[in-house]
Amino acid sequence: MKNFLDLADMPRDEIVDLLALADRLRERPEPAALQGRVLGLLFFNPSLRTRASMQVAMARLGGESFVITPGSGSWQLETRLGVAMTGSAAEHIREAIPVLDSYCDALGVRAFAEGRDLSDDLSERSFTNIASLCRRPLINLESAVNHPCQVLADWKTLDDLKVPRRSRFVLSWVNHPRALPLAVPAAAAHMAALRGMDVVVLRPPGFALPDAIMEKARRAAALSGGSVSETDDRDAALAGAHVVYAKEWGSPEHYGDAELEARARGGLGDWMVRDSWFQKTDPDCHLMHCLPVRRNVAIADDVLDGPRSRVLSQAHNRLVVQTAILYRLLGGAPAGRLH
Ligand code: CP
Repeated sequence: MKNFLDLADMPRDEIVDLLALADRLRERPEPAALQGRVLGLLFFNPSLRTRASMQVAMARLGGESFVITPGSGSWQLETRLGVAMTGSAAEHIREAIPVLDSYCDALGVRAFAEGRDLSDDLSERSFTNIASLCRRPLINLESAVNHPCQVLADWKTLDDLKVPRRSRFVLSWVNHPRALPLAVPAAAAHMAALRGMDVVVLRPPGFALPDAIMEKARRAAALSGGSVSETDDRDAALAGAHVVYAKEWGSPEHYGDAELEARARGGLGDWMVRDSWFQKTDPDCHLMHCLPVRRNVAIADDVLDGPRSRVLSQAHNRLVVQTAILYRLLGGAPAGRLH
C-alpha cells in the first residue's frame, strides 16, 4: 500500500485484509513496529478524533508524530496555484508540503471542500494539488468528497456488530444550522455499497447527492452484490432498516450560496433522528454518526444516549483501523524512501 487516499483505490480483498490486520494488532499489539518513524499531520481544518487517534496510533506502534495547523502556531498556507500572495497566507503549499515531507516518513492531510464550486470540489482539485507535491506515503484525513479513515472505521464497526453484509443501510440527511461538506455522506455510501449492503440514501427534496457520488456508490455495489437507491420518503426508507447512518450535508443545488441554502433548509427541523424513526426498522437497528454531532438538532439526546447508538464505537475504531493503515504504509517500507 503506497498511499491511503480512497477505499475505491483498493481491491475489496485488500480492505478485508486491512480490517483483519486491525484486529490482529488490537489483540497482539506491536509497540516497536514503527520505532524511529515519524508521521507528519497537516490540518487545514479542525479535528478532535482524527488528530488524536492518528497521534495515538503512531505512538502505540512506537513511532512519533507532529501536527501543523496552518494559521494557528504556523504560517497560513496558500493552496491556489498562480495567485499573487497578497493576502494572509505567508507560505505556499508548493514549498510547505515538500519541506514537511522531508521531515517525516508519511504525511496525513486534512483539507475540506472549499464549498464554492461543486465541480471543483467533486474533482478533489485542492487535495489533488497537495498530493502531487507529496513524495511520501500520503493519508487522506478528509478531503472535499472523501473520508476514507472514517468509513474504514465504520466498516469495522459494522463487522464488530455482525451486521450482515446483505442488509439495509439507510444514509439519512439530518438537520444542521449550515451546509456541511459532502465528504462523509459520499464516503459512507460508497463504503456500505462496497461492503455489499443495500444502501438507501434518504434526503429531503433539494438535497440529493450529486450524480458522481451516487454513480461511484453504484459501481461499488455492482462489484459487491449490494444496491444503491435514493428517496425522500422517510417511512419507506426506514422500514426494515438495519442501520441508520445520520449525516448533515449541504444542498448540492445551492452549493456555495449561503442564502439559498438557508432558505432550502427552512422547515426541515423535523429531520432530526428521534426514537420514533425506529418504529418500523429492524428491532436491532443501529444508529451511526461520524461525530461531531449537534445534540437535539441532528439527533435527539435519548437516541444518542440510548442502546442503538454506536457513535463511540465508531470513534474508537478510528484508532483501531488507523493503527493498521500506518503499519501497512510504514511497516515494511525502507526508511528514507523518496521517489
Ligand atoms: N469524524 C471525524 O473525522 O472527527 P474529527 O473531525 O473530530 O476529526
